[in-house]
Amino acid sequence: MPARGVTFLKWHLGAVQLQILLGVVMATHNQQKLNAWREVQPGVWVAQIGKADQPTLTRASRSEPRHDRLSAMPNATLPFSLDQVRLVKSKSFSTVHIPLGKNEKIFGLGLQMQGTDRRNGIYHLRTDHYSEGNDRLHVPTPLYISSAGYAVFLNTSRTPNFYVGVGNRVDDKSRPKFRDRNTDPRWDAQPPSDWVEASVEAQGLEVVVLTGPTAMDALRRYNLFCGGGTLPPLWALGFWHRTPSLASADAVTAEVNEFEKRGFPLDVIGLEPGWQSRSYPGSMEWSKDRFPDASKFVKDMSVRGISVNLWENPYVAPESELYNILKGRFGSHTVWLGAAPDVFDKVARRVVQDFHTKHHLALGVSGYKIDEVDGFDVWLWPDHAEFGSGPDGLQMRQIYGVLWQELLFEMYRKQNRRTFGLVRASNGAASRFPFAIYSDTYNHRQYVTALTNCSLAGTLWCAEIRSANSPEEWARRMQSACLSPIAQLNAWADGTKPWSFASVTDTVRDAMLLRESLVPYIYTAFAQYWHDGVPPVRPMSLIDGGTETDQYLLGDDLLVAPMFTGETSRTVRLPKGKWYDYATGAYVGENQSITVKPALNTIPLYVRGGSAIPTYVGATNATKSAALGKVTLRCYGDGEHRGLLFEDDGTSFGYEKGEFGLYELTSRSGNVVSTRIAGQRTGPKAIFKLDSVNQK
Ligand code: GAL
Repeated sequence: MPARGVTFLKWHLGAVQLQILLGVVMATHNQQKLNAWREVQPGVWVAQIGKADQPTLTRASRSEPRHDRLSAMPNATLPFSLDQVRLVKSKSFSTVHIPLGKNEKIFGLGLQMQGTDRRNGIYHLRTDHYSEGNDRLHVPTPLYISSAGYAVFLNTSRTPNFYVGVGNRVDDKSRPKFRDRNTDPRWDAQPPSDWVEASVEAQGLEVVVLTGPTAMDALRRYNLFCGGGTLPPLWALGFWHRTPSLASADAVTAEVNEFEKRGFPLDVIGLEPGWQSRSYPGSMEWSKDRFPDASKFVKDMSVRGISVNLWENPYVAPESELYNILKGRFGSHTVWLGAAPDVFDKVARRVVQDFHTKHHLALGVSGYKIDEVDGFDVWLWPDHAEFGSGPDGLQMRQIYGVLWQELLFEMYRKQNRRTFGLVRASNGAASRFPFAIYSDTYNHRQYVTALTNCSLAGTLWCAEIRSANSPEEWARRMQSACLSPIAQLNAWADGTKPWSFASVTDTVRDAMLLRESLVPYIYTAFAQYWHDGVPPVRPMSLIDGGTETDQYLLGDDLLVAPMFTGETSRTVRLPKGKWYDYATGAYVGENQSITVKPALNTIPLYVRGGSAIPTYVGATNATKSAALGKVTLRCYGDGEHRGLLFEDDGTSFGYEKGEFGLYELTSRSGNVVSTRIAGQRTGPKAIFKLDSVNQK
């Protein structure tokens, strides 16, 4: 029998060993080692911190990676080793620490409506209706893209926090110089750090790192990982007009007649709350007073080449048939006393789809505007609200817009019909959904900033026009609206018409006609979004690391630089290559900043030299133009001209099975040669005409 002292010594040693052992276990538990990383798709690395936390954004959106297209991307390496990334699980948080190079710029972190380089900032990404000064966003996508050519995506429906190049740890190896505030004026209240730290208050977090090689490639990889960008139906790229809230079928028809009489293009009519028998909360059923024969109304519009889009917010009035058939599958709290369907629940999702199919789709309705899914806790439910399907109230607010987009999109897909619409909130993993974001904030400059930043959040932005304080503002805003993903006049409150400001009627009509003429070019840009993940609106940050928020590329070859009220001149930075004025064909410069003084009837719009822009001449409706199939190539600069053209039936999902053609068009000495670079069509149906707008 051992002596007592020996037993004590053994026990004591055992405790120390246990402590040491525990320490090691804790350290490995807290900071996972990096065999944690798996390459789940070419250039897409995933690590799980802690336990799987549901729903992830890819689960909420039911996205599947586009393996075929990801495999076609170039190989790339990261500017750091994945071993350097720290994955930490603490009591309440799951945190990732990612190295940040000294000269890196960081772009993205949601649909930001101010600035573009997010370095040295702190962001708490929450879904909300944006208002100046808060960091709550219509689209809080937890994605950032580095100028060093990689991206990081947190696949979570929680509300993430990002500390971008700020926040210094005790164990940081390289820290900024210590300064004495008593004596050193260079003392910094927020010393820079070489890390991005991001966290969620959850037991787990999925971290996705995407390689480039370029920043644009990293975004492409993200889009393809989430299912690819959306391809709208062709009609959706024409002009949209939303009529006043309480307009009846007759009043809407009268407005459509007026567009025709005055020679203004029109493709989509958007009906606002008054199409429903009641609103806020809504019935989602037709008003018998204002639309006594809804089916005839939608058909009459369709015969004229006009699609009908319906406004809805998803909060259901007890009077509605939907309320009864959902059988209580709602969240615990109401929104304006309407019940919020628990659309993460499979049964609720199907019931909502069936209801919409029966009441709207069967009549020919082309799509929806899903309003007010962005209210945070101001009008949406509180954090602690309950949904039977699992997510808590806070998570549900982050993904509600995504869930609605998904269910509506799939409802149309089942009918092999494409849709396009608007939504006021979205999140990550939603680039494949045919919806654009809008907002009531209505500051023109902010709208253009949102336009330049939207692709960095994997979303689309609609810089719609509503009203204006002067003819000048009306014209300038209309010009911006016409060069955004959806060209829309939203007259729900003001009843404005394109011709409401008489002195600029022609200017406004010209902007709308320009939009119609660019449909083949914009459609092709969208096809690139679907096929290659390259967004149609391209911020300067992804072109060459520029930080401008007032100019962007639309597709491969057009540079848009909107004008704002009160300005008679502006600076435009021309990226590499020769650039020409779109309207006159005049050469304007190359890799330099220029100052321009565009008259009110002119949009600063520039074209890359050597390009061929496919256009429709004299177009007033995208569907009708496509039926004629005559495409004029506007060629800029000397020598050979090159452009892309995408063709398919414009309305079905056949393109997903290869029923399309993506052609490279080359014009050589007056002849157009087309080479199919993707798809199975035998050749372009379009009849080409060349228009050389080159003037020196
Ligand atoms: C707002 C929306 C407007 C309009 C209006 C109708 O929330 O932003 O575009 O649809 O509701 O009540």
